[in-house]
Amino acid sequence: MSTPDASTKVGESEHAFPEGRAVAVIGAGTMGHGIAQVFAAVGTSVRLYDVDLARAEKGRDQVKSGLARVVQKGKLSAADAERIVAAITPVATIAAATSGVSLVVEAAPEDMSLKVKIFQDVLASAPADAILGSNTSSLSITELGARIGAADRTVGLHFFNPPPVMELLEIVRGVGTSEPTVARARAIATKIGKTSILVNDAPGFATSRLGVVIGAEAMRMLESGVASVGDIDRAMELGYRHPMGPLKLTDLVGLDVRLAILDHLHKELGEQFRAPAILRKLVRAGHLGKKTGRGFYVWTAEGPREA
Ligand code: CAA
Repeated sequence: MSTPDASTKVGESEHAFPEGRAVAVIGAGTMGHGIAQVFAAVGTSVRLYDVDLARAEKGRDQVKSGLARVVQKGKLSAADAERIVAAITPVATIAAATSGVSLVVEAAPEDMSLKVKIFQDVLASAPADAILGSNTSSLSITELGARIGAADRTVGLHFFNPPPVMELLEIVRGVGTSEPTVARARAIATKIGKTSILVNDAPGFATSRLGVVIGAEAMRMLESGVASVGDIDRAMELGYRHPMGPLKLTDLVGLDVRLAILDHLHKELGEQFRAPAILRKLVRAGHLGKKTGRGFYVWTAEGPREA
């Protein structure tokens, strides 16, 4: 396998979404609804699936409320916001989501068995040429592709939170991912206005492996009383120009998501990725960050404040 190129934008977006073919997004949670918005914003019909219709509808409603704030700021017309929301159809079955699509993007929880089951269902109804993309943050694309028996079409399409705003798409090439699939993934990135990087499958890819190190160290510093939550975050916001400190970012991403990544990397790469006790404790308490209203911060309508 060759070494991936540096960050590039590739043309040839004409293969991304064959005319009239929709995209399926499996999972309407924090990432799934944002990913649905990204595709809808470039005029693609999106079928948004979750385990029940109410959750899929909630995902579409979150797109609507997020866009309402952008309209309020005067950065998008109300008509365009309406058009984007209208392009997203919540659906209650994987068969309804995937029939006739050119691309499936799975954004389910970080559990390999669950993802395998989802893609087995997808394979029963999606067209034989559809790209099978997983938004996994750390699990092996090679293993996923092999276990579902469709390695050539399986590729990591790793988005960042919030998907409509973050510029990167991390494309992950498994051992069995075909070069035409990688080329189509590159073209998809271009079509949706993202810059792609290409990473060969490895635990945590490039982004999660680097990102969780800072987050976990910030938590260990908090545990040992080095500084307060706010001051640890300000250290990186003001001293390193990170847009958001590592603890606030963990709240945004979801403490459960970060814990799953760390547990996986600990198993695969060793001790340096052991999850801090404070993270496991907060997850056990149900304090998962912004989505539950509490993590390292308390989240209010005005934004985060120190707990
Ligand atoms: N749809 C479209 N555009 C939106 C939007 C939405 N729902 N919400 C906000 N925007 C736009 C705003 O209009 C604004 O546009 P302009 O720059 O043109 O003004 C821009 O996005 C920024 O929004 P805000 O002004 O509301 O917010 P901000 O400036 O405080 O930035 C932030 C918020 C983008 C989240 C910023 O704090 C940030 O970059 N934080 C770090 C995020 C990060 O690191 N994410 C990666 C996490 S790791 C991950 O996701 C991977 C994983 O696997 C776990």
